[in-house]
Amino acid sequence: MKTIGILTSGGDAPGMNAAIRSVVRTSIYNKLNVLGIKEGYNGLINGKIEEMNLSSVADIIHRGGTMLRSARSDEFMTDEGFNKALNIIRVFNIDGLVILGGDGTFRGAKKLSDAGVATVCIPCTIDNDMGYTDYTIGFFTAVETVIDAMSKLRDTSTSHGRANVVEVMGRACGDLALYAGLAGGAESIIVPEIDFNMDEVCKRVIQGRNRGKLHHIIVLAEGVGNAYEVAEIIKERTNTDTRVTILGHIQRGGVPSAFDRILASKMGYKSIELLLNNEKGKALGIKCNEIISVDIDKALNTEKKFDISMYEISKILSI
Ligand code: F6P
Repeated sequence: MKTIGILTSGGDAPGMNAAIRSVVRTSIYNKLNVLGIKEGYNGLINGKIEEMNLSSVADIIHRGGTMLRSARSDEFMTDEGFNKALNIIRVFNIDGLVILGGDGTFRGAKKLSDAGVATVCIPCTIDNDMGYTDYTIGFFTAVETVIDAMSKLRDTSTSHGRANVVEVMGRACGDLALYAGLAGGAESIIVPEIDFNMDEVCKRVIQGRNRGKLHHIIVLAEGVGNAYEVAEIIKERTNTDTRVTILGHIQRGGVPSAFDRILASKMGYKSIELLLNNEKGKALGIKCNEIISVDIDKALNTEKKFDISMYEISKILSI
């Protein structure tokens, strides 16, 4: 193992830069060359590659986004694009690849691994939708962003006695809504994993109002449906003025939290340790506060379980 390549792909996540820094510095410490591949798999196809040194990753640990930039590459999934990528790996003498991203990115890494390229994946997504790991890099920063927005919305919700529906990202996964909802004291949390009943949501608004609550925050995961429809029903059935906030890509940016930086630093270090030990086709994760590695296949096929007990607690605490 002489030369490592690193790329970030798919939706960016706060903490990716801290992971890049860790991979680059651990590689250089171990006397390896490191090549930064720009714009995800597209950059691999097109040879957008530059050598990295200790200073390339200076001053990035605290920055959101990814200094290597990112892309969702359809071309990489075609035979032609994939073969171009393999060719670039050969031309640049890349012996091992560290690949940062979510499940789509991992599927690309699996293809490379099956083709004989030594790959290690680091899970980075604000969705926390990968079942083999307790947490993904970027998730807790996004939770902080959502609860910051919820606190602000709570102020204005209280002033006007309104209900505020806050739509958060997460694709088909309700974790971002659940964690932010619990931490932000939401009156209701609506997620794709749990059947919900609008009458119950409305009843909570009315009960809260009857005991003098002035704010009503309803956190809605994007995978459930339309925030405006939910708001309209609340307005009709409770006679409460209602507003909608769709947080959108704000959730993807910002200064990474301490947890995400630490997780990223540990996983970046571990990725190089694995490659040096000739362990390939692996995905890193965290389970019970231990960094683990599993086959990429397993990472992709482990079902994500929703934390129902946490959901139940949130319901009890927001009565
Ligand atoms: O997977 C991360 C994520 O932010 C999802 O929560 C969201 O649905 C999606 O990416 C948005 O994708 P894009 O940035 O391509 O619009």
